[in-house]
Amino acid sequence: MQQLDDVKAAARSVWARGDYDAMMRTEGLYAVGAQLVRHLGVDPGEQVVDVACGTGNAAIPAARAGAQVTGVDLAPEMLAVARARAADAGVTVEWIEGDAEDLPLPDGHANVALSTFGCMFAPRHDIVASELARLLAPGGRLGLCAWTPDGVFGEFFRIVAAYLPPDPEFVDPPLAWGDEAHVRDRFAGTGLTLDFERRVWRITHDSVEAAVACYTDNLGPVTQARELAAAEGRWPTLRAELAELFARHADDDGHVVLPAEYLLATGRRG
Ligand SMILES: C[S@@+](CC[C@H](N)C(=O)[O-])C[C@H]1O[C@@H](n2cnc3c(N)ncnc32)[C@H](O)[C@@H]1O
Repeated sequence: MQQLDDVKAAARSVWARGDYDAMMRTEGLYAVGAQLVRHLGVDPGEQVVDVACGTGNAAIPAARAGAQVTGVDLAPEMLAVARARAADAGVTVEWIEGDAEDLPLPDGHANVALSTFGCMFAPRHDIVASELARLLAPGGRLGLCAWTPDGVFGEFFRIVAAYLPPDPEFVDPPLAWGDEAHVRDRFAGTGLTLDFERRVWRITHDSVEAAVACYTDNLGPVTQARELAAAEGRWPTLRAELAELFARHADDDGHVVLPAEYLLATGRRG
């Protein structure tokens, strides 16, 4: 389907923009990948796949835990950064350019499948769910993190989306992956039993201005929204909306502390 190919090509190019790794380091968000690996109890020698791995948030700590790890992502630019981070960490990961909707790995390959804020951005969540289920070996474990629609990043991505071209109808909203009922429905009939928990990661920025710059300079879709808004003379409005959101989370010293809520979905194949 041409429209689907266009959506994938657009995703590949949008995630190549900005400096995602710089944003992640500012946010301290690499800790969430490490927490997820600990939570699932990844053991040495297990086969682990990090789906929509980006710069290796879950893949690298899984490799540190001694697992045999594969990281899959649509964007080669993300994988290039992941490769450099793995080399710095002294771990080996197999990085594969691929699609969460058509994972380039055999049935039952993984003891553990992980995705931190990744699968949510693939367009058809039912297909992603069936791919994740296909990938897991009997007894295999699943761990997924996604921003909740009613959390700070839900609000943030709704602001940004208003400055981006609308997605075709068949595209699931990324934030739906942070809604328990949606995820449960997507995995219905896959043979996985699921559990859910809401968690909060506190993200600190030095100031409201620093928070706006962190995302509008570095986070692919937001850099695109900024560029499109600027072309239409709407960048001051976008900047003001983001600043207003961040100002609501500023303390007396002007530091912004975002209580970034995400849904942690864990699962097991029977
Ligand atoms: C917000 S980043 C998350 C990256 C990483 N998991 C993390 O926690 O930092 C979203 C990632 O999803 C990837 N992505 C988007 N659509 C995808 C798809 N259909 N298949 C595989 N990766 C995809 C993007 O290239 C990007 O690296």
